[in-house]
Amino acid sequence: MTDKSHAAPLGAPAIDPDDIGHNHSANPSFNSLIAGRLSRRGLLRGGASTAAAAMLGSVSLGACGGGSDADVAPENFTLTFNPVAKSLVDAVVVPAGYTASVLYRLGDPIAAGVADYRNDGTDPASTYDRRAGDHHDGMTFFGISASQRWEPTNPARGLLCMNHEAITPAYLHPTGQTTTGTGNAQVRTVAEEVQREFFLHGVSVIEVARTGNTWAYNRTSAFNRRVHTLTPMAFSGPAAGNALLATKYSADGRAVRGTVNNCANGTTPWGTYLTCEENWAGYFRRIAATDDPKRSAKERISFARYGVTGTGRELWATVTPDTADNQYGRWNTELTGADAKSDYRNGANTYGWVVEIDPFNPTVQPKKRTALGRMGHEGACLGPVTAGQPLVWYMGDDSRNEYIYKFVSTAVWDPADAVRGMAAGDKYMDAGRLYVARFNADGTGNWLELKFGSGNITAANTVYSFADDADVLINARLAADVLSATKMDRPEWTAINPKTGDVYVTLTNTNAASRNINQTDAANPRFYNDPKGSAQTAQTGNPNGHIVRFAEAGRNPTSTTFTWDVYLFGARSTANGNINISGLTADNDFSSPDGLWFSQAVQGLLWLETDDGAYTDVTNCMLLAAIPGRVGDGGVRTITNVDGTTTRTQATIVGAAPGTNLRRFLVGPKECELTGIAESGDGRALFVNIQHPGEDTRPDYSNPASFGSHWPDGGSARPRSATLVITKNDGGRIGI
Ligand code: FEO
Ligand code: CA
Ligand code: CA
Ligand code: CA
Repeated sequence: MTDKSHAAPLGAPAIDPDDIGHNHSANPSFNSLIAGRLSRRGLLRGGASTAAAAMLGSVSLGACGGGSDADVAPENFTLTFNPVAKSLVDAVVVPAGYTASVLYRLGDPIAAGVADYRNDGTDPASTYDRRAGDHHDGMTFFGISASQRWEPTNPARGLLCMNHEAITPAYLHPTGQTTTGTGNAQVRTVAEEVQREFFLHGVSVIEVARTGNTWAYNRTSAFNRRVHTLTPMAFSGPAAGNALLATKYSADGRAVRGTVNNCANGTTPWGTYLTCEENWAGYFRRIAATDDPKRSAKERISFARYGVTGTGRELWATVTPDTADNQYGRWNTELTGADAKSDYRNGANTYGWVVEIDPFNPTVQPKKRTALGRMGHEGACLGPVTAGQPLVWYMGDDSRNEYIYKFVSTAVWDPADAVRGMAAGDKYMDAGRLYVARFNADGTGNWLELKFGSGNITAANTVYSFADDADVLINARLAADVLSATKMDRPEWTAINPKTGDVYVTLTNTNAASRNINQTDAANPRFYNDPKGSAQTAQTGNPNGHIVRFAEAGRNPTSTTFTWDVYLFGARSTANGNINISGLTADNDFSSPDGLWFSQAVQGLLWLETDDGAYTDVTNCMLLAAIPGRVGDGGVRTITNVDGTTTRTQATIVGAAPGTNLRRFLVGPKECELTGIAESGDGRALFVNIQHPGEDTRPDYSNPASFGSHWPDGGSARPRSATLVITKNDGGRIGI
């Protein structure tokens, strides 16, 4: 249910761009590579633990999502709250003893002189560059000191940076998007509406502070800032200046305007924010029948691999007349001019990157870090940080059958760089090695380097003739195909357990059309039917998703080998043992894991968020807390998969069942997704985003009762994405 297209006319079925997989490479499924038995338990129980203990003593562990380990965490702790029940009500539900308050809603002003949001579709577009965007997503809390510098452990004041991934247009304009025509001829006719939408995407930086146990954002802070689809940015790293990035906006391919579909996030050891461009491809207009005859074979292969074909999900390119600086026409990535400097034929190449933003310096231009590759970037999770060692970021490419990547910097970490802001970004993020993951059936894995000239990543490649290093980064998916990386069930967030260094990746779900019962492998092992209530259709494939985790060899994040298992399988608690493999109960059953984040204040505490469209006949999306074990704490398991009358077995490796160390902490309002999570420097405030309440229901504007949700304002109000702040009534740390 993520990221619906709203360009469809009222009453038409919404399209989920995430449902579209574009990986048609012939990588073998791992069944065909299995050569024998699974025998990794001895391997996992080998020297890894000892090595980890030795290494962790000297390591300042990474902070995927910010913060540090300065606040002393309890050595041993348990989850102490009573799990909340599944819920279909239009409200946020938290355990007894906790309070969830609304902090920052769609449209809320972030500058003096901007009026309160009317939330009826009439607020002027010109004010939206100083309002909260829509679809709050990945988020980091940067504690801020009295001297206005980064202070990760500040318990009471910080900058909250958050992504605004997409929009629910039904509630943004008086009566939704105004269009005329159908099919390829459908066009937007009200420029004011499109201008609103340009600003509603991107990133917010807001200052937040605590008074007593109550948090609020400072509406007039000088740090408040919006980054959106019109914000000037620079390209940095190996692809900067490449001809494939040249546009009418930037003939030399070194500049770009804006960011879009910013999903999950990431951090750096120098206090900057990483925002990740995920389903950007759908925003571009490229009618293949018109454009393909004008394009080279390489261009057509690249467009197909990245899914750059269609009218553009919000039809932004269709507004006429265009502005002098092509604010609308830039979203048309067809070949229309004499050369690349006179049109936006390369526009789609300028999106799909990890973007660095310095929240403490609003005047510093964001940079798109090309060394981390171009894909459907979900997030960029900083690995464990060690002085004298390279820095590592783990990244999921969120589309069906896509891969998991990591970037390893060439430069080794010097703690003196922690105060250098974006200059440190230039040092660590512009040069390094980009790897893609292969999960072997025996529980081992390999990181395979995407490097021009090595293996078949060459000009002689018969699928795609790579030109140089920049071409490999711009077409990272095609390079990963060459390496026979493992296609995964939609990689979403990545999180690192600061206690063990284990890396966790949510694989949110997949469907039968993308991966049939014969295409399971050890790391993506299930195929089943998820039944629904009578009003809904059963879904087959892996509609409930799972969470894979891995331990780098020697607990060294730069290793090129790892061991893995599946930490958790999403399932209804009522499903049979081949589906509910993790033994979930009514207190913790969930579907479609997405957001995933380890607390830094309470090390070893994991938060898990869902973005589900399968179990939603029973419950709205949710947030769970967990205390996971470690890679290898379970064992080998053979699953019997069923598709109609076909049965097939699949061997996999399953982590220990979570039991009561996994509990449902929060259930959100109707038709929302839970995403984005951060904590104050002391772990006593948890910030959580409620994205797109009410997005599935097409409203009848004359009847507010028809709205899919009225959260958070209630009554007959239109729904709004919003940030929650959750505190414990006794002032304690959240969850324990
Ligand atoms: Fe934007 Fe992969 O969720
Ligand atoms: Ca969503
Ligand atoms: Ca997500
Ligand atoms: Ca999702």
